[in-house]
Amino acid sequence: MSHDEQPTNPTNNRPFEEILQARLERRTVLAGGLAMAATTFFASGTAGATVSSMGKNETDSAEEKDSAQGGGRGRRPLLGFEPIPLDDGAEPVVSPDYQYSVVIPWGTGLSASDPPFSWPQTSSAAQERQIGIGHDGMWFFPTGRGRDRNRRGVLCINHEFGRNTHVFGKTAPESLEDVRISQAAHGISAVEIQETSTGNWEVVPDGRRSRRVTVNSPVDFSGPAAGSDLLKTPAGEPGTGTLNNCSNGYTPWGTYLTCEENFNGYYGATGEWTPTAAQSRYGFTTTGFGYGWETFDPRFDLSDPDHINAENRYGWVVEVDPYRTSKKPVKRTALGRFKHEGAAVTVGRGGRAVVYMGDDQRFDYIYKFVSSKNYKSLLRRGRSPLDDGTLYVARFDEDGTGQWLELSTDNPVLSGAFADQAELLTYARMAADLVGATPMDRPEWTTVARNGDVYCTLTNNTERTVADPANPQAPNPDGHIIRWRDSDDHVGTTFKWDIFILASSTLGGEDAFGSPDGIWADPDNRLFIQTDGAQPEGANDQMLVADLKTGELRRIFTSVPSAEVTGIAVTPDRRTMFINIQHPGNGDPNLTGFPDYGGAVPRDATVVLTRKDGGVIGS
Ligand code: FEO
Ligand code: CA
Ligand code: CA
Ligand code: CA
Repeated sequence: MSHDEQPTNPTNNRPFEEILQARLERRTVLAGGLAMAATTFFASGTAGATVSSMGKNETDSAEEKDSAQGGGRGRRPLLGFEPIPLDDGAEPVVSPDYQYSVVIPWGTGLSASDPPFSWPQTSSAAQERQIGIGHDGMWFFPTGRGRDRNRRGVLCINHEFGRNTHVFGKTAPESLEDVRISQAAHGISAVEIQETSTGNWEVVPDGRRSRRVTVNSPVDFSGPAAGSDLLKTPAGEPGTGTLNNCSNGYTPWGTYLTCEENFNGYYGATGEWTPTAAQSRYGFTTTGFGYGWETFDPRFDLSDPDHINAENRYGWVVEVDPYRTSKKPVKRTALGRFKHEGAAVTVGRGGRAVVYMGDDQRFDYIYKFVSSKNYKSLLRRGRSPLDDGTLYVARFDEDGTGQWLELSTDNPVLSGAFADQAELLTYARMAADLVGATPMDRPEWTTVARNGDVYCTLTNNTERTVADPANPQAPNPDGHIIRWRDSDDHVGTTFKWDIFILASSTLGGEDAFGSPDGIWADPDNRLFIQTDGAQPEGANDQMLVADLKTGELRRIFTSVPSAEVTGIAVTPDRRTMFINIQHPGNGDPNLTGFPDYGGAVPRDATVVLTRKDGGVIGS
């Protein structure tokens, strides 16, 4: 969505484009049509073991199986599928080597007895029992045994946002019930799904693990800020729900992480209100994005004296147990409060949990969290690896190195600036400002490749002011992908970095794309890249696959008009992939009827990709 665009960072930290230009002058950019892939910077890097140390949600490395599919005579190419051209039609298109089906469109009941979808949505009670809107980050947690691990599981999926006109057919709520409908359409679904005998996927009838978590569900807080007065309101109501859930993460211990992004947009002020410095830094305004929740729900009214601090309860990474519905979602405050895009988890030296995170706003930052100890030993003692550790923010230096700057009251730069660690974490952006982090071009998803390289999409930034003819991204309307290699197996405080791809929506080329957003590296060194923004020739958003060793890039999927492609989940054998089409037609049935073709409005939905020959996705 475009709500991330207004910059709220007032610092003079050195703009990233200056550093980027300095770096680009030093290296050769391979001009591969319009995307320029620099694939040699880390070519000498050794294969790491971080992926293989992941736990039960790790996907199987499938290189051997791939070679078996080639008839036993050598491995087939990493990207063996026939690529497709750009497309602007009203229906999705997939490589001819692949097929797709659709599952859990917005409004699908969690069980057979739940109300079917009807439009406009008129009942919050119905919406609370149905799949939400704004399908985004997700992950698949297997529940079946043996081969059924790949045929049945809990799909945890984020519901980032839905316009009022799309959800309940009005530009603004006219009652508290309208607000409740909107709130119930947000949050996440954890829904049991299974493959049918015909190869399609369906919701498991009355799956006992299926649940919704909405803006009004009970949640817990943990970590250093959990008991802070900054998270309490004069009204004294408990913290509830999760909001604007964008990208995601998944942990080696089998839980789902859902990330709260543009929470500021759901707040407004019905009366006199002057923003605090922190509220300004997090982008709060009198009207927000126009949802109008504040009109009927005082928790979202910035001018309501009974709900001071209510907004501090959003902007966190939230851990959800997909297997135990009795467990409340937990907001992990040690990971800091900002506009969390995603949370890519890996295991670093000493078995420590490491989480890479982007803050998606123009000129905001990239963060990482490192747990204090081996994650298994913490879990054995009943402690969460996400509650105890160190938060850092990234500074990219022009010589191709970088520093992870510690965000704690132990850092002399920060010791006098915050009352305690709880305040520092609640206003993590302001701490990052003070230590001199590098303002980036809207950090979206991060992913950790097999060899330990970390990739992060920087989706675009049209407000770059330093132009350079040699660098078409300044201003940067189309974005790029940066990568780095941390010292000390992800737990060190220094790194080396390079640009992987500069995207372009205006130059020609077969594999052109703009505004990279969703990203996921598989264990075979493929990088899946999803887009959200302007594409070449005004085409629909798309998904491509890159070979991380050669830089080859192929388009595998194209979406429908006015819709982004976002969210990546796979079954353990990686022969089924789930992706999402978010906000098809921006809700306008004249642009696309996806996926019903004939319904009142298009609906956000999950697309299931399989290879026709049953091969690994991306091959
Ligand atoms: Fe929710 Fe920054 O995408
Ligand atoms: Ca989005
Ligand atoms: Ca995104
Ligand atoms: Ca985006």
